[in-house]
Amino acid sequence: MRLEIDGQPVEVEPGATILEAAQAAGRYVPTLCFDDRMAPFGACRVCMVSMEGGAAPVAACTTLCRDDMKVQTEEATARRIAAATVELVLSELPEPPAEHTELATVARYFKIGEPRWQGERRRPAHDRRHPYLALQHELCISCGRCVRACDEVQGAFALTATGRGFHSGITAGLDSGFVDSTCVSCGACADTCPTDAITEHSLLELASEYTGEEGGTP
Ligand code: SF4
Ligand code: FES
Repeated sequence: MRLEIDGQPVEVEPGATILEAAQAAGRYVPTLCFDDRMAPFGACRVCMVSMEGGAAPVAACTTLCRDDMKVQTEEATARRIAAATVELVLSELPEPPAEHTELATVARYFKIGEPRWQGERRRPAHDRRHPYLALQHELCISCGRCVRACDEVQGAFALTATGRGFHSGITAGLDSGFVDSTCVSCGACADTCPTDAITEHSLLELASEYTGEEGGTP
């Protein structure tokens, strides 16, 4: 199957997504809810691209390639939608994301500093009952990666997405915390989380030693 990404011809197997074609063509398309270890989810709308003749921008991670498709990864409307989505996500966080996180990388890519919208921000809500993993609810952007890692990679089914909009988040077990869930402590959730909403206690302790601030205690 042949198509063009930003004017560059590329050949992919049938069933490939636009994101895969863009990567094959050496083009960077930002992503947040995507992790190539799991099935695409199409939740964050950060990977928006435009197609010649297309009615509207589409999510590159879930849209399949077609023969002779002409895709633009940096088209203005697609970039505006993606950047506004990231800005909206940032506007709900209590503080800017830590520099090393994927969310911070994406924000830098779109050159988003202080969000224009100053609405309600999430309040710190921490669960440190698990022996290794810490859950910082206020940093969760509901990308669903941890739930899918737990289900698809580990098969443990310990995590569930809960709530809607501003009140959405992640719950372990029957809302009784990680430790009483079917969690097997594999760390796949922490490994994939793009914001550090799920992380390891030891990393929080290291961060607190470095900054001199308390590392995510309740
Ligand atoms: S805890 Fe992390 S990986 Fe899970 S939904 Fe929230 S931001 Fe995404
Ligand atoms: S990375 Fe494509 S919609 Fe999230």
